[in-house]
Amino acid sequence: METVVSGIRSTGNLHLGNYFGALRNFIKMQESANCYFFIADYHSLTTHPDPAALHGNVRSILAEYLAAGLDPEKSAIFIQSDMPQVAELYLLLNMHAYIGELERTASFKEKMRKHADNVNAGLLTYPTLMAADILIHRADKVPVGKDQEQHLEMTRKFARRFNTKYGVNYFPEPEPYNFGSDLVKVPGLDGSGKMGKSEGNGIYLADSDTDIRKKVMRAVTDSGPTEPNSEMPETIRNIFTLLEIVSSPDTVAYFRERYADCSIRYGDLKKQLAEDIIATVAPIRERIVAIQNDDVYLSQVARRGAERAQESARKTIAEVREIMGIKRF
Ligand code: ADP
Ligand code: TRP
Repeated sequence: METVVSGIRSTGNLHLGNYFGALRNFIKMQESANCYFFIADYHSLTTHPDPAALHGNVRSILAEYLAAGLDPEKSAIFIQSDMPQVAELYLLLNMHAYIGELERTASFKEKMRKHADNVNAGLLTYPTLMAADILIHRADKVPVGKDQEQHLEMTRKFARRFNTKYGVNYFPEPEPYNFGSDLVKVPGLDGSGKMGKSEGNGIYLADSDTDIRKKVMRAVTDSGPTEPNSEMPETIRNIFTLLEIVSSPDTVAYFRERYADCSIRYGDLKKQLAEDIIATVAPIRERIVAIQNDDVYLSQVARRGAERAQESARKTIAEVREIMGIKRF
């Protein structure tokens, strides 16, 4: 059976990018694979979150995972910091991760630019920690959005390097995965390329219907096409990309035709998009409210998930130690 691993950082609530890029794929995969899904709270420490807020964030993301359809009967759902084996594998993998390649990672270069005052070693070795999360379960597939492609390439490189260095065929090379198609990039509606927490343009699973309508109606547009079959500017293309993700093919075709013959009214397009987003989000939001305050259930899920994930992680660590020649007296 295939093994699937994925995680989301605990820096804020889940938005449509997280849901359609990673979570929804994972939810489908839990029917047929050996699945591990976690909250990457260690990864969130690179930006020094407020200790008083950390646990609450982890808790609300856990509730959102469950509300979105992650099933603790089928998947191991756990918190990264409950896994000391991940920290150990991270240390061991760092011995074979070179400063040059870590410095060349796009996400690191971006952080250097944006947060020049906090370029810490955790940020530099972010890809090794991510590789440890994945390799600790010897995963075959990793459902993620397009922005994680380079991190996955590095994970494969670390796996390959380990196998070559020690003359073993131990770690599989995990593939980034999206059901039936290329990895997705959910766009923002503010004219920027990507929807994201740090971009401040998120539509969240916890947003009310009113919030969603407001956010969608504010989407950047232009004065409309003036020539038949003209090419779409990026802002309009982004709206269509989201429509393709949440609406039926008929709806998409209808608005594409209106665009092509210049009869489109952006107001109608946005109204439809907002209603179709609400149809996805509203049932999840209702479940979030129900689960969020159930402390007993949340801690049961996290503990059981950690036990299951640790069982697989302990086996890997014992084997990796053996391969590397680390022996107990
Ligand atoms: P954020 O980018 O909001 O900070 P994370 O970096 O924690 O969120 O991403 C968690 C998961 O969600 C990753 O698999 C990532 O690829 C996916 N993801 C985040 N934003 C998007 C997006 N706009 N489109 C597709 N996938 C996304
Ligand atoms: N780096 C991922 C992100 O920012 C989160 C993450 C951490 C992850 N470890 C992972 C994703 C392992 C998949 C597998 O989105």
